[in-house]
Amino acid sequence: MAMFCRSAASLLKPVHFLPSALAVVRQSSSGGQYQYILVDKKGEKKNVGFIQLNRPKALNALCDGLMLEVGKALDIFEQDTEVGAVVITGSDKAFAAGADIKEMQNKTFQECILGNFLAHWNKVATVRKPVIAAVNGFALGGGCELAMMCDIIYAGEKAQFGQPEILLGTIPGAGGTQRLTRAVGKSLAMEMVLTGDRISAQEAKQSGLVSKVFPVDQLVSEAVKCGEKIASNSKLISALAKEVVNAAFELTLTEGNRFEKRLFHATFATEDRKEGMTAFVEKRKADFQDK
Ligand SMILES: *[C@@H]1O[C@H](CO)[C@@H](O)[C@H](O)[C@H]1NC(C)=O
Repeated sequence: MAMFCRSAASLLKPVHFLPSALAVVRQSSSGGQYQYILVDKKGEKKNVGFIQLNRPKALNALCDGLMLEVGKALDIFEQDTEVGAVVITGSDKAFAAGADIKEMQNKTFQECILGNFLAHWNKVATVRKPVIAAVNGFALGGGCELAMMCDIIYAGEKAQFGQPEILLGTIPGAGGTQRLTRAVGKSLAMEMVLTGDRISAQEAKQSGLVSKVFPVDQLVSEAVKCGEKIASNSKLISALAKEVVNAAFELTLTEGNRFEKRLFHATFATEDRKEGMTAFVEKRKADFQDK
């Protein structure tokens, strides 16, 4: 959850981003107001929710306000029947260089416990619509954890992933030790968590942390394309598919397969399953109604 590159650390000093530089954005789609993020709908059919972390002076350090806004934007996309997938991205330089250490510096154990510190971050992992992280630049500490809460990670070729909390005398606190280990295996996860060393986009691809790597300037449009592909399927069925893939991280093989089978059977109660198979037989494109 913590930390960043040294260059970011110096930038994080006082919370000195300029409100004017962070244009307060009004979104007609959401009606919301955001200070730390930009929110939009992308894709030809405007069916991909788009959240851009926008705290450039702090390399998108994940302060409390930023994560609350991300949660709010996700809630709105979750309710928006047009939206079939969401992309979360940062800037070319940083997806997010870490949590906001200034906010943590003087926090006490008691405050952490009583406030359930960082618990609300989990919002990103509990959204039912598919979420794609498009990671350019630094995804360190909380930034790496945020990316790993998403369902799919695409990386730009210059991306760097790391859990450097150990260098600050703490450990990851938003799923880093758990999701990283499940994604890349014990040896690499241990090495990253114990040394604070980062891995490159290529290493992240090799180890299974990310599914695809793209040139920096193509990353976001490729992530939106992936979102459009997902959004063109039945949102109803996508929600089931996402739920059962996630269950693979929680259940035994027998229980997971049982759950899968039940949801598979459940798809036969839907109009979209009927439409999908009928369209296939009739050699036409399916027209899903999310029913
Ligand atoms: C934390 O406490 C130290 C020592 O009292 C102080 O110098 C520092 O400014 C405080 N940091 C924050 C972010 O409030």
